[in-house]
Amino acid sequence: MQIVFAASECVPFAKSGGLADVVGALPKEIFKLGHEVTVYLPLYAIVRSKLTGELKFAIRSITIPFPHGNRFAGIVDGGVHDGVKFYFIDCPEMFDRQGFYGSNGDSYGDNAERFGLFCRAVLESTKLLGMPDIFHVHDWQAALIPVLLRTVYSADPVLKNCGTVLTIHNAGYQGWFPPATTEQLLLPWDIFTYDKLEHYNTFNFLKGGIVYADALTTVSPRYAEEIQTPEFGNGLDGALRQRRADLHGILNGVDYAEWDPATDGNLAAHYTPADLSGKRKCRKDLLHAFGLDVPEQTPVIGICSRFASQKGFDLLEQIASRLAERDVAVVALGTGEPYYEKFFRDFAYSNSSHFAVQIRYDEALAHKVEAGADIFLMPSRFEPCGLNQIYSLKYGTVPVVRATGGLDDTVEEWNPDLNTGTGFKFDRYDAQALLDVIDRALAAFNDKKQWTQLMQNGMAQNFSWEKPSREYAAVYGEVARRKA
Ligand code: ADP
Ligand code: GLC
Repeated sequence: MQIVFAASECVPFAKSGGLADVVGALPKEIFKLGHEVTVYLPLYAIVRSKLTGELKFAIRSITIPFPHGNRFAGIVDGGVHDGVKFYFIDCPEMFDRQGFYGSNGDSYGDNAERFGLFCRAVLESTKLLGMPDIFHVHDWQAALIPVLLRTVYSADPVLKNCGTVLTIHNAGYQGWFPPATTEQLLLPWDIFTYDKLEHYNTFNFLKGGIVYADALTTVSPRYAEEIQTPEFGNGLDGALRQRRADLHGILNGVDYAEWDPATDGNLAAHYTPADLSGKRKCRKDLLHAFGLDVPEQTPVIGICSRFASQKGFDLLEQIASRLAERDVAVVALGTGEPYYEKFFRDFAYSNSSHFAVQIRYDEALAHKVEAGADIFLMPSRFEPCGLNQIYSLKYGTVPVVRATGGLDDTVEEWNPDLNTGTGFKFDRYDAQALLDVIDRALAAFNDKKQWTQLMQNGMAQNFSWEKPSREYAAVYGEVARRKA
């Protein structure tokens, strides 16, 4: 099969969160299964800076109509990497910016036009460069592709037979815009109805994808169930229940070529389950990077995250002073909402000998946190999959997580009687429950024999892409058969 991926982020070109890791890894795995894969991304300023020399155009100019006139996009040939072909949509007035979605905490005002143009440019490009069997589109930024295919392009002799798969990485971000977006994107008004794109009188990109895609997936089995409920559906639970027969929960894999303490080039030392000695050096290196100096026996809790309300740090805020009474160090790396950035700054200030924070995006440091911490904390309010806890398992850094979404699917509670399990979980979204689970982990940390077993249990887990990529290929096959 020919598969075209369309997404707003992809490692190593443009990343703000886990979406980029998935879109960077899954296409390679689909290629290994014998399919042809192409990835389309917007040509943001950061992507441009990573391409050396002159841009090589596969298509010089594609015309995208708007009510106020046409816009033009070039299709830049990004070459082939690990078997996967890359194209970048070049429209400087839309994408040649520092942010992907906004700046200084605010979304760009023209995001509907930017990602509307992206979706159309992908379709127009494939008409010329090779039409796929399946468009695999990710999150709201690419969700208009199935909408366009079944409306504006429904009679197109080339495109009408293509199937579509939409992956929802996070139902908390939907792409809500004013109703007039319908005509701004030259879409027919009859799709602005309750059963299609209209959502509480907004134009909703993600809802459009949910209604029009041939199949839907999300990034863990547990989250696939959760988003069909009012608590987690963010208003789309009804639309998702309607599509439940076509909705698959496929747990994300991780790329162990990038995330393995035995080979990770960002670390001060390497280590394996059989020889953990290098992890001590990584701990020292991490504490140094955060300017902390705590005794050898003090456990280090690591955090590496987007600072968003999804991630549950309001619970940490409520227990901060009680945590400071324990013998524990905390290092946090992240950026995001001003409220949480301020909280973390204050948190570090409140106990500067034991708590430290770095407010920035830093890939090498993210790897150091995974390796150098003893415990990795993710108290998420909701978590579609979560990759950091999976990385931390591999790094022998014991995850302490809330039992939601992919966190619940990937972490198994430690059972000291049976020596089974890989981490610690709490259920109720509640500050006391968080403090209790941290205390459980700290108590276990004091028994070195048990703790080593717990680390080794986690390190033995296998969350490679091998199984999930086959599950995706099965979904593609099913959609292609239905189209035929
Ligand atoms: P989400 O996609 O919701 O942000 P995930 O756990 O799926 O959560 O993925 C987060 C990814 O982003 C991980 O690869 C993590 O290492 C990375 N990341 C998050 N914040 C930072 C940061 N400040 N610096 C470097 N990497 C980060
Ligand atoms: C989203 C989710 C995260 C998931 C990632 C990759 O950003 O918040 O839980 O791991 O996408 O699918």
